[in-house]
Amino acid sequence: MPIFYTEQTKEFHLQTKGSSYIFTVLDNQQLGHLYYGKKIEHRDSFTHLLRFQRRATSSCVFEGNLEFSLDLIKQEFPSYGTTDYREPAFQILQENGSRITNFEYKNHVISSGKKPLKGLPATYVESEEEAATLEVFLYDSLIDVELVLTYTVFAETNVITRHARFINHHSSPVQLMRALSMSVDLPDADFQMLQLSGSWSRERYVKERALVPGIHQISSTRGASSSQQNPFIALKRPQTTEFHGEVYGFSLVYSGNFLAQVEVDQYDVSRVQMGIHPFDFQWLLEAGESFQTPEVVMVYTDQGLNHLSQLYHSLYRSRLVRGNWRDRPRPILLNSWEATYFDFTEDSLVEFAKEGKKLGVELFVLDDGWFGTRNDDTTSLGDWFVNSEKLPNGIEGLAEKIEALGLAFGLWFEPEMVNKESELFKKHPDWIIHVEGRSQSHGRNQYVLDFSRAEVVDAIYEMMAELLRKAPISYIKWDMNRHLTEIGSPAWPKERQQEIAHRYILGVYDLYERLVSEFPDVLFESCASGGCRFDPGMLYYAPQTWTSDDTDAIERLKIQYGTSMVYPLSSIGAHVSAVPNHQVRRVTSLETRGNVAFFGAFGYELDVTQLTDEEKENMKKQIAFYKEHRELIMFGTFYRLRSPFVGDGNVTSWIVVSEDQSEALVGYYQTLAKVNAGFRQLKLTGLQECGLYQIDGMIGTYGGDELMHSGLQLPNEFSGASALREDEQSGDFQSYVFKLKRIESDRH
Ligand code: DGJ
Repeated sequence: MPIFYTEQTKEFHLQTKGSSYIFTVLDNQQLGHLYYGKKIEHRDSFTHLLRFQRRATSSCVFEGNLEFSLDLIKQEFPSYGTTDYREPAFQILQENGSRITNFEYKNHVISSGKKPLKGLPATYVESEEEAATLEVFLYDSLIDVELVLTYTVFAETNVITRHARFINHHSSPVQLMRALSMSVDLPDADFQMLQLSGSWSRERYVKERALVPGIHQISSTRGASSSQQNPFIALKRPQTTEFHGEVYGFSLVYSGNFLAQVEVDQYDVSRVQMGIHPFDFQWLLEAGESFQTPEVVMVYTDQGLNHLSQLYHSLYRSRLVRGNWRDRPRPILLNSWEATYFDFTEDSLVEFAKEGKKLGVELFVLDDGWFGTRNDDTTSLGDWFVNSEKLPNGIEGLAEKIEALGLAFGLWFEPEMVNKESELFKKHPDWIIHVEGRSQSHGRNQYVLDFSRAEVVDAIYEMMAELLRKAPISYIKWDMNRHLTEIGSPAWPKERQQEIAHRYILGVYDLYERLVSEFPDVLFESCASGGCRFDPGMLYYAPQTWTSDDTDAIERLKIQYGTSMVYPLSSIGAHVSAVPNHQVRRVTSLETRGNVAFFGAFGYELDVTQLTDEEKENMKKQIAFYKEHRELIMFGTFYRLRSPFVGDGNVTSWIVVSEDQSEALVGYYQTLAKVNAGFRQLKLTGLQECGLYQIDGMIGTYGGDELMHSGLQLPNEFSGASALREDEQSGDFQSYVFKLKRIESDRH
């Protein structure tokens, strides 16, 4: 069991292959944190890691003991109000107005395996041996409230997950004002905080800042995890690179409002906290009720950012994503959105799909515009029945025709929304998130349905399920195109209005859960104005996510690079679209567009009926290439080699290597051409040192060690030499995918 408990010292030691996490019961019976970092051998006592000191201005817990101040002691799940002046992990408002609590250690249980979280997405195990779980029970006897802190150790993968649960055993209610999922006090502040920030169409850019005293936070108050900030932070040492050095990752399995923050205190202790954003949040706990926080997935490594990402990739790919599609190669899809927008008929779609089939695509996806009277974005959301003017034979008729072509059929929904111009809104104008008497803000001409109400979720479920039952639908793109405003629900009493944002997300999860259970063969792809809700919570239901509405290959380099910090390639929806690109009007070659989109769940989103014969031939080759390598791309080990966020960002490169190191694909991208530039070598990684490799299109053989230590000699266009010769490719936006195959595995 990777969890040790020492009775004499009341210490808990959670140990993974490469990390240790240690905490203890303090003299005041609360929990103190001792250590989180590189694995250390177990001993019966680590008490010396606690530091007690007398400091001039400290307030102290015990009379006469000037050393026991919670402001100085590293804590496990701190409260505010009893000598610690930093931000707490939770706060409970009691009947008498008090917010002071005292949760003392009561007992604990260590067990193998991992229990699911009721109503919430979470990582899971398939056998009891995969993980061990520690539940620590704390109790505040004055208010008769229990707090359960749960830790699960995935020993093989350096992962520790955490969440908290509050249970009110008393006959009178209490109000949670703050209920984060985790808190940990690291003993120094020599870190850079890495975050994935952006906006619509430029999601998850890698940003870093050095810690200084004070609070550093990222958050969302939009009702969705957002493209502005992803629910992830990493703390890395200043010298840590992609390949070396210490880094801690914290990733929240949640899709709503969140907070991730690091508070550096006066003594350079870094308090890391994560969970549901306390802003505009309260939760009433009536007698006997409990509140479950979402899960945080913590990863530590001393082998750099690539290793951190690989640990997340492997856990999320195999123990967060679920269902029949988890381990199946994803179909190459052709999506109608950028090809037709709202303008199509059954005939035009069938023609379009036919052309796609000839090129080799496997799944045809009909995007927005097929329902109600929808011809633009002003009407019909909520009316999930077919627009029979466009599709006279219904979705069934179209889907059957598509299937008859030998393609699977997929359909777009935006289940959480309604337009004022819709039958649903006419019938149930009160079914939207709103506050009575206040005007309701619009976003893309639409309102957000009140998913805190079970009857609203039921109604949408029935409409979607009816279609799924009668038509052969193999894939659903689940969109969400505006954030929440005027958050409130007349269906709930006034004391529960600040619960609505969380209840809304619980409703979204409930609808997902019911659909994935009833239709286990449907592949779901989540989406929110592109990648505005790319988070681990969604991956539990939808194995892939539409990464960004920005489909330009050069823009995508940054977006996919940043996304890969946490999320596996199998989850990164990536399409080749038309040029000039619809978002930035940039023109890049089909080759470069394909070379970028290959490193994800691949597809096309352009009018294939308008392509030249040469383009069609090239597309066929791309599709054949992806089919040949998609298992490697989906399940291989991914390393980032060159960052578009470093220096002038002109070069981006990455590699994906098969588990047995026998194959690899290297993506190399140069944004602007360089004239007469220097020679360029690209040092690879992840290969077998003693293996001998062949590279497609290059003469000779190469040792794994040679490719990793001396590097791969890049073709002329990347050194600018080709500008001097007309017969070679050059210009901006060049790219190359090198295909490596091992031909000998042991040269010694
Ligand atoms: C936003 C999505 O990101 C797009 O891919 C497309 O599905 C549109 N919505 C449709 O309205």
